[in-house]
Amino acid sequence: MKVQNICCIGAGYVGGPTMAVIAKKCPDIKVTVVDINEARIAAWNDENVENIPVYEPGLPQVVAEARGRNLFFSTDVDKAIDEAQMIFISVNTPTKTYGEGKGQAADLKWIELCARQIARVAKEKKIVVEKSTLPVRTASALKDILEHTGNGINFQILSNPEFLAEGTAVEDLMAPDRVLIGGDQSEEGLSAINSLVEVYARWVPRERILTTNVWSSELSKLTANAFLAQRVSSINSLSELCEHTEADVNEVSRAIGTDSRIGPKFLKASVGFGGSCFQKDILNLVYISRSYGLDEVADYWEQVIIMNDHQKKRFAKKIIKNLYNTVSGKKIAFLGWAFKKDTNDTRESAAIYVADHLLNEQSKVSVFDPKVTEQQIYSDLDYLGSRSSEENKESLTVVKDPYKVCNGAHAIAVLTEWDEFKTYDWQKIYDNMLKPAHVFDGRNIMDKKALQNIGFQVHSIGSAD
Ligand code: NAD
Ligand code: UGA
Repeated sequence: MKVQNICCIGAGYVGGPTMAVIAKKCPDIKVTVVDINEARIAAWNDENVENIPVYEPGLPQVVAEARGRNLFFSTDVDKAIDEAQMIFISVNTPTKTYGEGKGQAADLKWIELCARQIARVAKEKKIVVEKSTLPVRTASALKDILEHTGNGINFQILSNPEFLAEGTAVEDLMAPDRVLIGGDQSEEGLSAINSLVEVYARWVPRERILTTNVWSSELSKLTANAFLAQRVSSINSLSELCEHTEADVNEVSRAIGTDSRIGPKFLKASVGFGGSCFQKDILNLVYISRSYGLDEVADYWEQVIIMNDHQKKRFAKKIIKNLYNTVSGKKIAFLGWAFKKDTNDTRESAAIYVADHLLNEQSKVSVFDPKVTEQQIYSDLDYLGSRSSEENKESLTVVKDPYKVCNGAHAIAVLTEWDEFKTYDWQKIYDNMLKPAHVFDGRNIMDKKALQNIGFQVHSIGSAD
């Protein structure tokens, strides 16, 4: 089947950019992205394309080109399902916060709602594509719901996990390392796979479009994230050893990364990985493994999370230790709140946990981030439930100017690797701080020698102070 009409349920960090790029590359395919969140859809439709809800370099240009031509954002989910031949499900799949599997399993509530809605609305055969990251075997649950509650029509379910990273979403989508499509190996299944291959083949070289059975595809997504996060936890674990042995973790990364079997990427020691997926997907892998009785497998992957939690805590403790073991009443300025540069996403950002730890020690935290809103920062902190929102507002301030945020601070903590932090007038910042003035570089982006020459005490990750 030649696809002419696509619908995507979920206009978030994945649905929005992914569909914008499909629409750009396939001007003859009508792409409608739907969401129940009216404010989000209104923002995607904002006249000023810079106001779209996802901050991604290059994305406003892609949206501007396709929106209104063959790319549409709407809250009319039923209509979009009805008209589409292919329906992507790109809704959120967070970790469960209640009941069986709480704290580990993926909450598939939103996925199931989508399936039931598709089943109710669809009157002609449809290809349903899992774009969300899902536990292995979810396709069988989807099929069950679609076939038992639907109008007796044929559904093919494909798994097409997304591998884009935030901050580089547009380039990742334009030139992916690979596109993965899993499906049923029956004649109808293979034909459905082929329909989706034809969409991507408009701009992705064929040899980069991998097809597998549906279970391999589902599991490969969790595995890819687990491997990436495992590299970060591995190097972070060694950063602690470096701090005790005068080895320098940057030098160690370079030394091992030049081995072509290891490779240089994802070896940057940091305050800990964040983002909406690494933790959630590994916890999910742990949960699935345990549910099959595979305790050694579960324990192995769980250690990646344990190490990451340790790294975040260790960073906060290092600040306290270097400020004479007390931060009570002291101002600590945060540069960065997003979980990485070039995104306004803060989900699971290390900054949230470091701030929480410092606030428990009665510190005054002041935050500047180039793209994250004040409202988001308070909502991240309130979500932890460590103290009331009034108390959070009292102890943490959000400042829109990077120089003002540092005025009168005892220490600066660099939590996100935004490029602009490197080029600030650090002498000016130093002059307006309390002395001794500390910089805790949670991303190893600062020029340590230059800051030391100004007079700063600089503490990096993975090297002796
Ligand atoms: P998100 O929270 O940004 O977006 C999900 C959207 O789905 C929300 O706007 C929500 O309102 C909408 N939604 C939920 N239920 C709905 C329903 N029944 N009908 C219509 N809309 C509904 O999430 P995201 O970051 O885009 O992630 C989506 C999925 O993609 C997750 O499974 C995630 O693991 C996976 N993923 C995310 C990334 C990433 O970089 N963020 C990358 C690869 C894969
Ligand atoms: C990650 C994967 O890279 C994507 O392939 C995947 O699609 C996505 O998760 C997902 O499934 O959601 P993302 O979380 O957007 O993408 O960003 P990454 O670049 O992977 O960074 C994740 C975290 O690890 C960030 O906090 C980053 O600062 C940290 N990190 C990354 C390090 O601390 N060191 C590194 O060397 C690399």
